[in-house]
Order: sequence, then C-alpha cells, then structure tokens
Amino acid sequence: MDKIRIQGPCRLHGKVRVSGAKNAVLPELAAMLLVEGPVSLRNVPVVRDVQTMIKVLRHLGMRDVTLDGGTLRAEGGAPGEPEAPYDLVRTMRASILVLGPLLARLGRAKVSLPGGCAIGARPIDYHIEALRRMGAEIAIEHGYVVASCARLKGAEIVFDDRTVTGTENLMMAAALADGRTVLKGCALEPEVVDLARFLNACGARIEGAGTGRIVIEGVPRLHGAEHTVIPDRIETGTFLMAAAATRSGITIERCDAGHLESVLDKLQECGVALRVDGDAIAVQPDGSLRAANVTTRPYPDFPTDLQAQFMALMARAEGVSIINETVFENRLMHVGELRRMGARIVVDGQTAIVAGPAPLSGAQVMASDLRASACLIVAGLAADGETVINRAYHIDRGYERVETKLQGLGARIERISG
Ligand code: EPU
Repeated sequence: MDKIRIQGPCRLHGKVRVSGAKNAVLPELAAMLLVEGPVSLRNVPVVRDVQTMIKVLRHLGMRDVTLDGGTLRAEGGAPGEPEAPYDLVRTMRASILVLGPLLARLGRAKVSLPGGCAIGARPIDYHIEALRRMGAEIAIEHGYVVASCARLKGAEIVFDDRTVTGTENLMMAAALADGRTVLKGCALEPEVVDLARFLNACGARIEGAGTGRIVIEGVPRLHGAEHTVIPDRIETGTFLMAAAATRSGITIERCDAGHLESVLDKLQECGVALRVDGDAIAVQPDGSLRAANVTTRPYPDFPTDLQAQFMALMARAEGVSIINETVFENRLMHVGELRRMGARIVVDGQTAIVAGPAPLSGAQVMASDLRASACLIVAGLAADGETVINRAYHIDRGYERVETKLQGLGARIERISG
C-alpha cells in the first residue's frame, strides 16, 4: 500500500490547476447507460473512483469506454448485462448511480446494495422508494437490489431529506420515463446541475436543477453529446485550506468561486485574504488566522466534504472553533489522527471543539477515508517534521496527482510505493 510522506512545514507558492469534479463525472458516467450515440466528456479527472465507474460500465457491457488525457469517450451502445456486482460496488458506493439508468434503459437492474461505509450507514432508501413510485418493482435479495419495470412512469416524488446521488439517480431514471416527473426536496449541489446540463445536451428535458423542484419530461431516447465537466469545488477548497494553514500565497486556477461561496466567506471570517479573478482564486499570506465555527449542511451551506480539511486549518488558528458535522454520523475519524499530530480537539457526539493554535508536529498517521486523508495532508504541510500518511489509496480515489500538484507548489511531499 502506498504512503504519502511530507517534510513540513512547507511554504507553498505558485499556481495550481483544479481538475474536473469527481462527483459530477461519476453520475455523468452512469448516464452513459441512457445514451444512444457517441459521447465525449472533457475535463475528466483521472482518479480511482472514475476508473472504478469505468469498470462498472464495462462490466455492464459498455466495452468501448476509453479515458485518454482527461477526455472520456464512449460510442453509446446499449448496456448488455444489468448487474453491478458486490466486488465493484463495495469499492465505491457511488456505483448505485447505475440503478436508475439501467431500469430506465433495460427495464431491469441488479445492483449490489452498498454496505455502510467509514463515514456513516448511508442507506439508499430514498432512491428505492422514489423508483417504486415510478412503477419499479424492487426487492432486496441476497444483498442485491433487484429491480424491474415495463417502462418507468412519470410521478411526483418528494424526498424526505436532501440526497445528492438520490436526486441524480431519479433525474436519470425520469429522463427516459413515460410522462412528467416532478422531484421535490432535491439536492441543490452544482454536480446535480452539471448532470442536468449533460443530460439536456443529450436531448433530455430537465428544468429546475439547482432548485428544490426539478421537472423532467420523459423522452423516448437520448442521443450522444459533448460536455465539459465543472471544476472540482472540493479539490479547490482543499488547496485553499492547505494555503491558509501554511500561511502561503498561491493561485488556484480553473476553478469556480461561485460554487464555494460558503467556504470563501468562512475563510474570510478566519482572516484569510482571498481575491477572486475570473476562474482563479488567489490566497494571500497576510493577517493572522482566527478560529471560526462551522456546521456542515447540504449545498449551498458549508460542505461535509471540506469539514476535515477545515478542522486541520482550525488546529492552527487562534482561538476555539466548534465544528458540527450534521450530514454524516461518523465523519470525525480524522480527529484521533490530528490529535497524534498535537492538535487539541475534544469530541462531543457529532461536534468537535478545536482549541488553537496548536504547534503541530509530524507523525505516522492513518487515512480512514478520502477527505480524512486530505485533512492529514493539510496538517502534514503545516506540521513541523516528517508526516507519513498510511493508506494513500484513499486520497487517490478523489484527488488527481495530489503529490505532483503540491510538489508544483513547492511542497516537500512524495509517494512511497509499498
Ligand atoms: N440518506 C439517507 N437515505 C438515502 C440517501 C441518503 O438516509 O436514501 C442520508 C445519508 O445517509 C446522509 C445524507 O442523507 O446522512 C446525505 O447523503 P447523500 O445521499 O446526499 O450523499 P451521497 O449522495 O451518498 C454525495 C457525495 C459525497 C458527499 C455527499 C454529501 C457523490 C458520489 N458523493 O454522497 O461525497 O459527501 O453527497 O454532500 O456525489 C466524497 O466525495 O468524499 C463524498 C463522500
């Protein structure tokens, strides 16, 4: 298993380019199951989760999917095999995104039920209930979601709570359904909007993505299209935290500051000097870093996917920060590792209280999930001495060439192949 080694503290400088958004491209890959005709996606990040989704598609019979230099192409043949097996789904729960498209295109699907994961139980009951309302018969058998229908029928669906992949799964299912579907209580994330843009480019009729109410007029078929994936807002936020934690001046290019308002506001509240110029954000090293409180919530509020990195930053800030995780019930696994690096953090239920500034010192640490590993990188860059992050495969799931990009910013960081 690879490790990441950092010699801290590092002062970063220069420019870094953000990759395409992992969480936009994953549903867009699943959407290829709906499309007849050639598709080309640009700005696709070469990360492990994308490679896993390509494997899932190939397993489903889409053998012509290729990824070359950030461009993904597929000829858009029909999927053959409607089964996503346990061995693939267990490595990436976003594989559940093939459920809606398979049902809509083939009228049947057998997808391994994702288990709980490191950050929480993460059930998929909203996806299943909503597909049932569209006429699908769904049973859970031997650890699989087994679903069938003649043709999905448009329906009015109210999500009890915001769900990102649930909204995406239903939008894809409804794109080829018979009649009009109205989804209420939808997730507002930019990745949902990007998926709707891609589907509409393929001939779907979707309105309202980015609001709580999405209306989809089903069409008989979707045709091929070209699409450019939005920049990854979580990668952008991670570089922002890394620069702020190391009191560095860097410029983050090819990002969309409009997707990061709550994060930029929070960083400014902490005293981080930022300048947005078109598709670039410059972080300046001036001023002192002050503690601020954060509560994670669905978009447009502060994202759970940046909570861990923000906590590493707060360990270096002046004062007490209260960080409240409300989206996932077990997403504070990084606390123990940050404490091993000298951070002063107390946990009470879903809340972490961080007393800063703590002099962080490099240590051997263990990554427990994707964003926890990003948090440990931020901490390692700011810490004194050597940090070795074990289980680097977590970071490879969602960050493209993370050590190369940070080396480009002057960080002393390397991968140790194991
Ligand atoms: N939930 C249910 N039932 C459902 C669906 C969700 O109870 O049927 C609960 C979840 O357990 C969670 C909350 O609702 O407590 C929100 O979950 P959501 O469905 O929105 O999460 P997701 O779609 O599984 C996506 C991202 C995650 C990101 C969350 C929240 C993708 C592929 N994944 O997950 O990304 O944290 O939204 O923004 O888009 C990551 O990139 O590191 C990551 C975990």
